[in-house]
Amino acid sequence: MTMLPGNYLGRKGGSGVAQWIINKMPFHDVYIEPFCGCAVVASLKKMAMVDNVLIDKNIDLIRFLKTHYSSYDNFTVLNVDCFSFLDTFICDYVGQGKKVLVYLDPPYLPEVRSDYVRSQYEHELTMLQHRQLLSLMRDRLLQFPKNLYFIISGYKSDLYMSMLQDWFYFEFQTMSRGGVRIESLWTSFNPDEYIKHQYDYVGSTFTERQRIKRKCDRWISKFQKLSFDEQMVIYESLKNTLNI
Ligand SMILES: C[S@@+](CC[C@H](N)C(=O)[O-])C[C@H]1O[C@@H](n2cnc3c(N)ncnc32)[C@H](O)[C@@H]1O
Repeated sequence: MTMLPGNYLGRKGGSGVAQWIINKMPFHDVYIEPFCGCAVVASLKKMAMVDNVLIDKNIDLIRFLKTHYSSYDNFTVLNVDCFSFLDTFICDYVGQGKKVLVYLDPPYLPEVRSDYVRSQYEHELTMLQHRQLLSLMRDRLLQFPKNLYFIISGYKSDLYMSMLQDWFYFEFQTMSRGGVRIESLWTSFNPDEYIKHQYDYVGSTFTERQRIKRKCDRWISKFQKLSFDEQMVIYESLKNTLNI
């Protein structure tokens, strides 16, 4: 895989934070990331089958991502202001009956940055735009109570805590340029109640994920030693137990 820009501000690359976010994602046909930056989360997750829409106002990053994803038919990479396009994508795809997941990682509010002067993006959001974004999500959820899921990350702030008070809230300790920080995540749904989009990042740390993977390898190796009929008995009863 081509290396994505490694030092981009706010990049979700450190300490397993991208894996932690992906592990909360429910199954979806369409993935939309309107503030994608260098798209670390999109590059680590299993792609959505119908469309993967990556949007950022930063022309250099989008040029890079367009090259990176040029051979995929199901990637739409756009250098536009997401406020003009996000709503259209959501309404079109949910209107067609697709399951749509929108993951947002907007520029952080000034009040939650340890060094606002030095840590600025070329494109920032005003306080009003943060409010508009949160209102847009709430409005669309009222319009489409099914098949639409939002995940938004950032740092804890009064604005987000009050406007998303009925959402699910999670924290993750990570390293940023300013030292140890608590990354916050809000989801419009309870992740425990949905089939995940992928199961490769189950486990809260790298060590735990390794432990689960080793356990899986042991069980698979035992399973492979059984006769085909015995394998099918187990397969059928697993399906019944899991109701799938
Ligand atoms: C916190 S960063 C995202 C970092 C990203 N998660 C990553 O892993 O690289 C926020 C991004 O939002 C972009 N941005 C700011 N305003 C925007 C807008 N109105 N429309 C689209 N992108 C915008 C910035 O260019 C920046 O790349």
